[in-house]
Amino acid sequence: TLIYFITPTYPRREQIAELTRLGQTLMHVSRLYWIVADDRPDCSPQIMNLLPDFSIPYTYIASPMPAIYKRDPDAMPRGVSNRRAALNWIRLNHNINDTNAVIYFGDDDNTFHLDLFKEIRTTKKISMFPVGLVGEYGVSSPIIDKGKVVGFFDSWPAKRKFPVDMAGFAINVQLLFKYPYATMPYKAGFEEDRFLSALAIRLDEIEPKAENCTKILVWHTQTAKKPKPIVMVKSKASLPGSLATLL
Ligand code: UGA
Ligand code: MN
Repeated sequence: TLIYFITPTYPRREQIAELTRLGQTLMHVSRLYWIVADDRPDCSPQIMNLLPDFSIPYTYIASPMPAIYKRDPDAMPRGVSNRRAALNWIRLNHNINDTNAVIYFGDDDNTFHLDLFKEIRTTKKISMFPVGLVGEYGVSSPIIDKGKVVGFFDSWPAKRKFPVDMAGFAINVQLLFKYPYATMPYKAGFEEDRFLSALAIRLDEIEPKAENCTKILVWHTQTAKKPKPIVMVKSKASLPGSLATLL
């Protein structure tokens, strides 16, 4: 079974570092196809140059967030346009009759234990598992009783049917073809819930992973935002040659 690993990413000064770290994690995973979906109008030459370094099959897509959603920075639907583009790419390129593929959303700043890939690879329909370092509680996880998901532990329930993190589930590719119009909404905070609802997921069909949701194999780590450095150099031409190529 193939894993489609969808990574939304966006231009900022940490981007290349995040993708390098993630790429070097994914190098350890077999039968993985990496879809790097960048929130910008055009593909970046630096990233096009970087991705072959990891020797894994990949596709690099550019799909920017529509400007209308940037009006309120506190309610920006992050990574939606680009995740949608990745889902469309799979619908266009994956053989509809081949159910041996699983889709997972792996943000560029998260941390993944290699055991996670063994767990999600066997997803028949939808699987779920705990995510560490999410919200106030420090973990977001399905609640399991007798091997079945009976509810969710999450610091922001917000009346969601599926109060889960983007990193806390995987789906079999067949669901994308069964629900060809199912997509992710441009609604901050409700991306997971509405996507899973559009796939008509029922609680009783969720496959708990990670030893019945007792282990954390993925963390919602975040890289601290640093202010933009003040660039004092007026002309790159005045720099020594090696630095001029770096900046
Ligand atoms: C952040 C906040 O810390 C949460 O409190 C908030 O709920 C969440 O965003 C949200 O807006 O839903 P986080 O999920 O870690 O949490 O946000 P990011 O890592 O910045 O973004 C998620 C993914 O989308 C990342 O892979 C990132 O590269 C990508 N992204 C982010 C974009 O593609 N475009 C953007 O403009 C921002
Ligand atoms: Mn993040």
